[in-house]
Parts: sequence; structure tokens; C-alpha cells
Amino acid sequence: MKEITVKSNIRPYKVYMDNDLNKLYLALSENKIKNTDKFIIITDSKVYSIYKKNIKSFMRKFHYDIFVMDEGEENKSYKTIDRIYKFLIENNCDRNTVLFALGGGIVGDITGYVAATYMRGIRYVSIPTTLLSQVDSSVGGKVAYNLNNVKNVIGTFYDPTFVFISVNFLKTLEEKEFINGLCEVIKYGVIKKQEILKYITDNLKGILELENDKLLHIVKECIKIKSEVVESDYNDLGYRNILNFGHTVGHGIEIDSNHKVSHGIAVALGMLVAIKISEDKLNLNESFYEELETLYKKINIPTTYKVDNRKGFLYSINHDKKMENNKIKFTLLEDINKCLTKIEVDEEEILKAIDKSIGRNF
Ligand SMILES: NC(=O)c1ccc[n+]([C@@H]2O[C@H](COP(=O)([O-])OP(=O)(O)OC[C@H]3O[C@@H](n4cnc5c(N)ncnc54)[C@H](O)[C@@H]3O)[C@@H](O)[C@H]2O)c1
Repeated sequence: MKEITVKSNIRPYKVYMDNDLNKLYLALSENKIKNTDKFIIITDSKVYSIYKKNIKSFMRKFHYDIFVMDEGEENKSYKTIDRIYKFLIENNCDRNTVLFALGGGIVGDITGYVAATYMRGIRYVSIPTTLLSQVDSSVGGKVAYNLNNVKNVIGTFYDPTFVFISVNFLKTLEEKEFINGLCEVIKYGVIKKQEILKYITDNLKGILELENDKLLHIVKECIKIKSEVVESDYNDLGYRNILNFGHTVGHGIEIDSNHKVSHGIAVALGMLVAIKISEDKLNLNESFYEELETLYKKINIPTTYKVDNRKGFLYSINHDKKMENNKIKFTLLEDINKCLTKIEVDEEEILKAIDKSIGRNF
């Protein structure tokens, strides 16, 4: 079983990676979680419908109950959390209860928040089932829910007892969700490790055909990067901002398109704009833009987006929670894998970069 230890602020925890779900038993015992503990599986309706039988078979040795939340971002709410708290109380859950977060980033964030707050904190095990949650949200301790359409505005930092990743889960993922996650993988290649981009280019067929060894390789590389970044800046006060590369304009695209453009694609487009701004402000070599655009085209990731309402678009960007003092701050690239954070960029510079990048064919 492959494993990476994440040295968090509170205590280190392991991320195990294996395709054999039975290895999860080993991980439980290594982390002193006993068969006699009480388990609550938290999952969403879609994951439950696909994995119902597997859950039953795997959990036959345990005392457990299941809470199934509706899938979708609109359910990442206090209403869901309140229902889970009540479910835990009704099922006599105490401080020996262990929660299993079985699902994508939404289930992970919700379960982590409940674990952090129920009885002042109980254990939870993260079993991420989307590519995005495997390479990103399962590590780093950010747990949160949305309030009044503001994403992740209520939350805290709380780590799982351990993370167990099986890339086999990705076999049932819809293609658009896989591509969403792949955009985040590309982001790691841009901000931190160019070899990831080369690996994707050289192994694209195998990756898109979901070959286990290829998937495991990219997941492991991304977890390594995410854990290094988080270890340096757990509370997200500076360096961790590099993970937001592409997210500022990406956020604007998500809002402008009324969420028709998914998060991953929006970030991918946002990265192209951030690269153009980086060329203008930090003299980033122009060849990198073309390299990335070529990779997007091979994967069928869009490279263009039309901004009709520029004022509204900038307004969306301005309302991104990463803003400070009414200035638009970007994470930019000085060179490939060399990020600078909190660089002030004005509206003119953003619009100019959009016209020269994702907006140039309109
Ligand atoms: N905590 C963090 O650091 C962090 C980082 C990035 C994103 N996030 C959060 O993560 C969320 C997005 O996560 P996501 O992209 O995983 O979305 P998600 O949890 O909504 O999952 C996407 C879809 O895939 C389905 N699904 C999950 N696993 C599946 C499987 N194995 N087979 C088939 N279908 C499956 C889900 O039911 C859902 O419909 C957002 O709420 C975002 O804010 C958190």
C-alpha cells in the first residue's frame, strides 16, 4: 500500500493509496480504530446508489449506520449538517464514534465539519471518490459549508484520522467530473511540478482510459505537492495561496456562466488568463501559454470563453473571497513552477489579458 504522511498543525496523518478496498481494514487497525467502535457512513445519494452493495459487504464486520445526503452543491448547507447532528444524536453517537466520509469534496467537507464540531470533535476517515477530492480536498484540513450562496464561508480546519484513496472509484465517475479533477491536476503541474504536465501528455490515452497505474501516479504526485504546501502554511495565510492559481478569474467564469461552466473548466480557463497577465506583468515566457493550450485541446478542455457582460464579470471577480482591501490580488507565474502570490492586478489589465487569451477568438 502506498502512503504519504501529512504533517499537519495538530498531528500527522496518513494518506493511503491502494486499489484493494480490503486494505482499508489494515489502515483502520494501524490507526487504532477498532471493530467495536461505532461507525457512521456519510455519503451522497449518487455514490450510495452505485456502491450500496460494496458498503454492505465491506462493513459486515462493523456496527454501522448510514446517512445519505442529497448530492449537489446546494446541499452543502447547514440544513444538511443539522440533519446529520440529529441523526448522530438519535443513533447514540458518542466520542467513540467514527465517521466515514465516502464521496466527493462535498461529502468530505460536510463530514469533516460535522466531525470537527460534534461533541467538540470526533474522529473521521476520509474516503474520497472523485478525482478532485482525491488530489485536492481530502488533504489540507479545510472543512466547510455554504451559506446564502457564499461558498465555504462557514468552516474550520480539522484533519481526518487518515485518508484512504482507491482510484477504482474513478471508474464510475462521469467523464465531466473526471475532467474537472484533471484540470486541478494540470494546475499542480503548472504551479509546482512541470513533470506532471509531461506525464499527462505522454500518458494521456492511459489516463483517459482510467488505467490504475497512471491514475495512481498522478494522484500520488498531487498529494505530495498538496501536503508540502499545506505543511508550510496550514492556516492559509500566504504560501497556500499558490493553490488558488487560476481561481480568481475562474470564479468569475463560474458565476458569469451561471455555473454552466464547471469549476474545473473555469479554473483551467482562469489559468490561461493568469498566464497572460503573468506574461504582461512578470515577463513569463510566451511559449508556456501555447504549451498549455495544446494540452487542453488534446483533452478537449475549452480554451475560449466569451465574456458578454464585462462589468458584471469584474463584479464577480471582485466578490471572490480571496480579495483584500478592495484590490484584486492574483497568484501569478514568474516562471513555470515559480508562483508569486498577492500580486495586485487592475481591471484594465485583467480585461486586456482576457482579450489576448480566452476571449481572443470572439
Ligand atoms: N476542502 C478543500 O480543501 C476543498 C478543495 C477543493 C474543493 N472543495 C470542495 O469540493 C467540492 C467539489 O468536490 P467534487 O468535485 O468532488 O464534487 P462532488 O462532491 O459534488 O462530486 C461530484 C459528483 O460526482 C458524484 N460522485 C462522487 N463520487 C463518485 C463516483 N465514484 N462515481 C460516480 N459518481 C460519483 C457525486 O455524487 C456528485 O454528483 C466543492 O464543494 C468544493 O468547495 C474543497
